[in-house]
Amino acid sequence: MTTPADMHSSGAISKELFRQMAYNEKMAELGRISAGVVHELNAPLSLITSAAQMILREDDVPEFVREMVARISSEAHRLSQLTRGLLNFSGHDEVGGESDVNLTIDFVLDFVGFEAAQRAVLVSRQLDYSLPAISINSNSLKQILLNLVMNALQAMEQDGGTLLVQSHLTTDGRVRMAITDSGPGIPEATLSRIFEPYFTTKMEGEGTGLGLFVTKTLVEQDGGKIEVVSHPGQGACFSITFDALE
Ligand SMILES: Nc1ncnc2c1ncn2[C@@H]1O[C@H](COP(=O)(O)OP(=O)(O)OP(=O)(O)O)[C@@H](O)[C@H]1O
Ligand SMILES: [Mg+2]
Repeated sequence: MTTPADMHSSGAISKELFRQMAYNEKMAELGRISAGVVHELNAPLSLITSAAQMILREDDVPEFVREMVARISSEAHRLSQLTRGLLNFSGHDEVGGESDVNLTIDFVLDFVGFEAAQRAVLVSRQLDYSLPAISINSNSLKQILLNLVMNALQAMEQDGGTLLVQSHLTTDGRVRMAITDSGPGIPEATLSRIFEPYFTTKMEGEGTGLGLFVTKTLVEQDGGKIEVVSHPGQGACFSITFDALE
């Protein structure tokens, strides 16, 4: 496997590495800013929710006002969930930890809801809610799933399609997550290269080609395994498998 040290010693890559470091720094900054924004948003959002609740408790509220206020309240609630999720997502990575697989899948799919709708992609989930937790930091698992889900959505850029996210226990007791899309699939010659750093088929400026390299590194760091099955014209299925926590 190519390590960052190998890449650095090859000289030609150091500019790319530098760009990646600058990008990471920018993302960390974005995290700090969003923590502030979330903090600012929380106070008005809870005011909206409690004012709505007070109106709904009145006796003589006309039905259509009641309906509108209930909608205001539920949208405010959804926004505060979203901002809290953002805060959680931008949080600092702790080492170790454990993750609830289905909660993380739900979080990532809610997070990309707009991206999916924009591409006319239908998202469905088949989750086994009796799954045990796994030993991986939840921010790492979010990043892994986000990379795989975004790749799937980007593959369906042109004609829309379906995205299926599954979680289940394997016959040997491991926890498996699978992300299946109905996009164009991956040709055989490309398939052997997708985990290489900087390998991308996207236009300049649209992809760094680091997504799957980082994803594979994160999965393997926590003892997991990543696999892909794809037949051109029939979409792609990426799966990740981890040991269950005792
Ligand atoms: N679900 C998919 N369907 C079709 N091709 C895919 C899929 N996922 C990955 N690929 C192929 O693998 C390549 C490498 O993916 P990777 O995530 O590493 O980089 P990228 O998506 O091109 O760029 P980045 O993730 O940095 O934005 C992609 O350019 C694409 O050709
Ligand atoms: Mg990608």
